Amino acid sequence: MTYQTITSETKGAVTLITINRPEALNALSTKVLSDLMEAFSVFGDDDTQHCAVITGSGDKAFAAGADIKEMVDKPAADFFLEDFFSGWNKLTASIRKPWIAAVNGFALGGGCELAMMADFIIASENAKFGQPEIKLGVGPGMGGSQRLTLAVGKAKAMDLCLTGRMMDAEEAERAGLVARIVPHDKLMKEAMKAAETIATMPPMAAMVNKEMVEAAFETTLTQGLLHERRLFQILTATEDKAEGMKAFVEKRAANWKGR
Ligand code: CAA
Repeated sequence: MTYQTITSETKGAVTLITINRPEALNALSTKVLSDLMEAFSVFGDDDTQHCAVITGSGDKAFAAGADIKEMVDKPAADFFLEDFFSGWNKLTASIRKPWIAAVNGFALGGGCELAMMADFIIASENAKFGQPEIKLGVGPGMGGSQRLTLAVGKAKAMDLCLTGRMMDAEEAERAGLVARIVPHDKLMKEAMKAAETIATMPPMAAMVNKEMVEAAFETTLTQGLLHERRLFQILTATEDKAEGMKAFVEKRAANWKGR
């Protein structure tokens, strides 16, 4: 499969997707969204692929936001009639397997929002996060006001959205936005290593673990705990549960069936 604005390659059981518009700091145009939709659909349908990593090409940016040049002359009615940005929600909802954002530089506006859609973020020490849309006379449109607030709390989300300032990787990790910071030149090695580790796990259990954690953002504690227990109980019916527990008792490596 060839794409105009991204590349997608399989490396063992990991799919590496790279946004490839370095001349525009990997700005997220409508074409980037449709290419990502296709690439993630191929990833989802491929039974040999168990985790994905998304990153930005070049040394400077993960993605510097939605494509401002695409929006500058667009009539307001078109934003509404097209339900502009709604495709990003469809993209996120369609990805059932784990995926990691490897943030190599600027993750601003839609770039920060795309990184937050991933299951977790591994950041280069050069990464910079922000929701600077206010400086353009708008606000976040791909989930930033919600996901950022859930990740870092009201105080810092308000600070970032209202001042448009950037936070560096250290601040983002302290605030809970970033899972790990790694040296810039080790970013892809570390992100791929994390993805390879996930890809060795029983695939259904990985999908269900992702779903369990996601539920924490959607439900009350009581409902979330019930949902978790039911999912746990469902997993006990899998061949991989039988194999995983047997392998532990027999002190040998498990041989996953993926069901
Ligand atoms: N859209 C389109 N093009 C962009 C872009 C964007 N979001 N960000 C950068 N570019 C382009 C620049 O226009 C420039 O192109 P030209 O060479 O053709 O002029 C090229 O990328 C390099 O950018 P700069 O020259 O600006 O690079 P810099 O190092 O001086 O600055 C930066 C880097 C601070 C990231 C700066 O580019 C910047 O502020 N970018 C915009 C950030 C932003 O406002 N993002 C939010 C967008 S709106 C949004 O995302 C809405 C939403 O919620 C979904």
